[in-house]
Amino acid sequence: MAIIETINLTRTYGDLVALDNLNLVVERGACFGFIGPNGAGKTTTIRILSTLLKPTWGEARIDGLTIGYQNSLIRPIIGYVPDFIGTYDDMLVSEYLEFFAACYGIHGSKRRGVVAEALELTDLTSKAGAQVDGLSRGMSQRLSIARVLLHDPQVLLMDEPASGLDPRARIEIRELLKELHRLGKTILISSHILSELSEICDTVGIIEQGKLCFSGSMQKALEAAEAGVEYEVSVEQRSTEAAQLLTSADGVANVKIIRTGGTEVLHITVDQQRPIAASEIPARLVTAGFRLTLFRRGQVNLEAAFMHHTRGVVA
Ligand SMILES: Nc1ncnc2c1ncn2[C@@H]1O[C@H](COP(=O)(O)OP(=O)(O)O)[C@@H](O)[C@H]1O
Ligand SMILES: [Mg+2]
Repeated sequence: MAIIETINLTRTYGDLVALDNLNLVVERGACFGFIGPNGAGKTTTIRILSTLLKPTWGEARIDGLTIGYQNSLIRPIIGYVPDFIGTYDDMLVSEYLEFFAACYGIHGSKRRGVVAEALELTDLTSKAGAQVDGLSRGMSQRLSIARVLLHDPQVLLMDEPASGLDPRARIEIRELLKELHRLGKTILISSHILSELSEICDTVGIIEQGKLCFSGSMQKALEAAEAGVEYEVSVEQRSTEAAQLLTSADGVANVKIIRTGGTEVLHITVDQQRPIAASEIPARLVTAGFRLTLFRRGQVNLEAAFMHHTRGVVA
C-alpha cells in the first residue's frame, strides 16, 4: 500500500485553482522528488499532507489515514519541514529542540537522549549552545530537520529544503537526506529544479499549474527532461545565417536570435521526440566556418518536456 496517496486532490484560493485533481502516489520507503516551477502548487500540497491546510475537494491519505478526519493519528507519523524556520528571539539551538521534544510529549532523560541524537544526526552538536537566529541558512535548515526527527516519524515532508543554500550547504543537506532514507524513512521533497534531486530521489512527480504532468522513476524523468533542454550559442559574425543552418538540422525544433547589449545569442529549442546531440551543434557550426564565442546549456523547459505525458495523464 502506498504510504502517501491523494485522490483528485483539489484546492482553490478564491477563484484560483492551486491544485486541480492531483493524484499522487508515494510508495513506502521511497525518496520522492516533487518538482515544479514556482506557483505550481507544491507548498499547497505539502501543507495539506501536513494537516495544516484543508482540501477544497478530493482526498489525501497518509498510511491509509485520511487528512482532515484522522489528523491526530497522522501527526505522530509525519515530520514537516517548512520552507522557512521562522524567527526565535533569544533561543538556543538546544532549547529549541528541547521545546519541540516537550511538545511531542517526550520528557526527562529520554528527551535529553533524542535531542542529542537529532543534533548528532544533523551534525549540529557543536552548535547546541548557539542562538537559533544566528545560524546560517544551511544550519537552520538542518535544525529544522533535527526538529522533525525528534518524534521519529515514518514520513518526512520537506518543502524546498535546499533552496537558497550555497553549494556546500546543499551537499550537506543532500548527504543528510540520503542518511535518513537509509534509515528507512519515506521522504517527499520538493524543488523547482529536477537535477538538484537526481542523486537522492528514486521517484519523481512533476506538477504544473496544480496538475501532475509526470509521475515515474527519476531515470525516466531525466530522459524526458533531457529532451526539453535548450542551448545558447553565439557566433562571431553572421548570426542569422548560423540560425538558418541550425534550424534546418535534424533534432532542432526552433532557433530564436536574442539581442542583449551588443551581442546576439541564438536560443535553440530541441525536438522533444528526437533531440539533436549537444556535440552536434558546435560541430556543425564550425564545419560551416562559423567561429563560436559561446556555447552553453540553457534552461530545461519542464513544461515542454513533460507536455506529452500530460496528455496521457489527463485523458
Ligand atoms: N494563501 C494563499 N492565498 C491565495 N493564493 C495562494 C495562497 N497560497 C498560494 N496561493 C497561490 O496558489 C498557487 C500555488 O502556490 P504554492 O502552493 O505556494 O506553489 P509552489 O509552492 O509550487 O510555488 C500560486 O498561484 C499561489 O500564488
Ligand atoms: Mg512553495
